[in-house]
Amino acid sequence: MLEVFQRKSEIFSYCSRRKSLGKTIGFVPTMGALHTGHLQLVNTALEQNDLAVVSIFVNPTQFNSAGDLLSYPRQFDQDLKMLESLGSDKIVIFNPDVQGMYPDGMNNTGTYDLNGIDSVMEGAHRPGHFQGVATIVHKLFSSVEPHKAYFGEKDFQQLAIIRHITKTLNLPIDIISVPTIREDDGLAKSSRNALLSEEHRAEAHRIYATMTKVKNKFDVQKIDDLIEEAIHDIQGSDNLFKVEYIEIVDENTLRPSANPQSPLRLFAAVWANKVRLIDNISLI
Ligand code: PAF
Repeated sequence: MLEVFQRKSEIFSYCSRRKSLGKTIGFVPTMGALHTGHLQLVNTALEQNDLAVVSIFVNPTQFNSAGDLLSYPRQFDQDLKMLESLGSDKIVIFNPDVQGMYPDGMNNTGTYDLNGIDSVMEGAHRPGHFQGVATIVHKLFSSVEPHKAYFGEKDFQQLAIIRHITKTLNLPIDIISVPTIREDDGLAKSSRNALLSEEHRAEAHRIYATMTKVKNKFDVQKIDDLIEEAIHDIQGSDNLFKVEYIEIVDENTLRPSANPQSPLRLFAAVWANKVRLIDNISLI
């Protein structure tokens, strides 16, 4: 049985004790509904540290609608079983409640200077989302004070936000990114995939297949034409999906770049009925 801590004070003293014994701590923040992408983060944390702390907390302040928050999959018992299946006694769980994480209520989020990274792509379409992410990640970091923290590249913009706050707040934590894990048909693993209808799930391969096609044609076709074609390919003549955006940006600045030497990355956000899917791939 893995040890589960619910209070910030408990996980804080547990981690402090382990650190005073010279142990290193890798931290994997999650919102639960774990899949093999999360397990990859945990395994990487175990490889690189003496102990992996996994937080499971569905953070209300990063959702843009009450409906989305309500329908977010919650399966704590199954999550525990998945983590236990890794067969390690070096994993501990932090599973706080909303009152524990937001003792003063949730009105004081939104005060981080995110240097404009929060105003493009996901930020432009999900106002306040990254302030909510920055708020909870900062709170979780100060509950665990890990040596390293692990995030998936699937949420590439989130990764940039977390790197930014870690740097500007001088937090002594190494942020480690882990490549996106995909289903056999290419769909990026996500807790939200469980919410897809059978029809949308069967066709969701269109997203990665189209992104790969853009990558392959990138050197030979005009960007605007490629994006227009990509939107059409994903949405299909059946309009099964609705593309919210497809953008090609410099992966360091997350802004469009005219410099052919820029490390370009393709980002997409796609609605499958009420489920929003995001993905990104490097174009280099
Ligand atoms: O990526 C997620 O699951 C969440 O955004 C995170 C980082 C756990 C913050 O709630």
